Amino acid sequence: MNIVDEITGHRRMRRNRKADWTRRMVQENRLTVDDLIWPVFVVPGENIVDPVAAMPGVDRMSVDRLVEAAKEAADLGIPAIATFPNIDMNLRDETGSNSLAADNLINEATRAIKKAVPNIGVITDVALDPFTSHGHDGVLRGDVIVNDETVELVAKAAVLQADAGSDIIAPSEMMDGRIGAIRHALDDAGHQDVGIMSYATKFASAFYGPYRDAIGTGGLLKGDKKTYYIDPANGTEAMRDAALDVEEGADMMMVKPGLPYLDICWRMKEAFGLPVFAYQVSGEYSQIKAAALNGWIDGERVMLETLLSFKRAGCDGILTYFAMDVARLLAKKG
Ligand code: PBG
Repeated sequence: MNIVDEITGHRRMRRNRKADWTRRMVQENRLTVDDLIWPVFVVPGENIVDPVAAMPGVDRMSVDRLVEAAKEAADLGIPAIATFPNIDMNLRDETGSNSLAADNLINEATRAIKKAVPNIGVITDVALDPFTSHGHDGVLRGDVIVNDETVELVAKAAVLQADAGSDIIAPSEMMDGRIGAIRHALDDAGHQDVGIMSYATKFASAFYGPYRDAIGTGGLLKGDKKTYYIDPANGTEAMRDAALDVEEGADMMMVKPGLPYLDICWRMKEAFGLPVFAYQVSGEYSQIKAAALNGWIDGERVMLETLLSFKRAGCDGILTYFAMDVARLLAKKG
């Protein structure tokens, strides 16, 4: 007997890998267009498509151009988009008051998209960072981000977003009690059908850098967000935080960033059975793009591999700036 047969006892893993057809037969996870949520940046004005320097291939769009892009996304089969506004600097203030304007940029975008492209889901964030002059997600008093006052504001903002047609409210500001407060506020306003996708586990990450440039908060941010986002060292704490969001009524959960936190994706799916989404954030996107543009990696293959890894980790979908690229690729493959 050959030494390898003696060692393996005739069990050879490579039999199932021998040809393209066997590999396709045994493939456990697949990426489809239904897995994709496309995060987009909105700017005021008309006919604007403004590239984000640190995110090659990503643009900030005015509402009219965003509506066209949303139409294209819907035609490709992308289920939902997540909108993030870059508002005029002179509208930003200490308490983020523009988040409570019924006709602010985010709500204007929602109305326009829902009117022109009713069959794409619109997901909106209620964190205050696009609206504050200090770039924090909540109300800043002294050097403290005040929890309860912020929760009151984001619950009101959630109702205005739902009034504008938002299908899913995605609170990312990590205040305690926000999911329950938003659920109550939505229900009181008759928005029982508007869902909540909790940024249940949002980590105090360095991967958000390019996003902050995209919405113009990079230069504004005083200090860091460590008093409200989760320490990247803590998995068990993240699970406790997520459990509270489930109790308070979250319909779906999100893990953010994505790739460095696949363990959390898996644990959340196992623990709660709710739909879990990973947010492949700006820094993750830029890393891949930068290396690909330098010819150091095969960008397309790395993109697909990272997205597939989220499926393997139990995710039901991925928020990714690659959404349109992937959707086009999948459509081409048929
Ligand atoms: C803040 C918010 C962040 C992102 C979306 N909303 C993080 C931050 O600026 O602290 C990051 C998204 C990305 O990096 O792609 N509410």
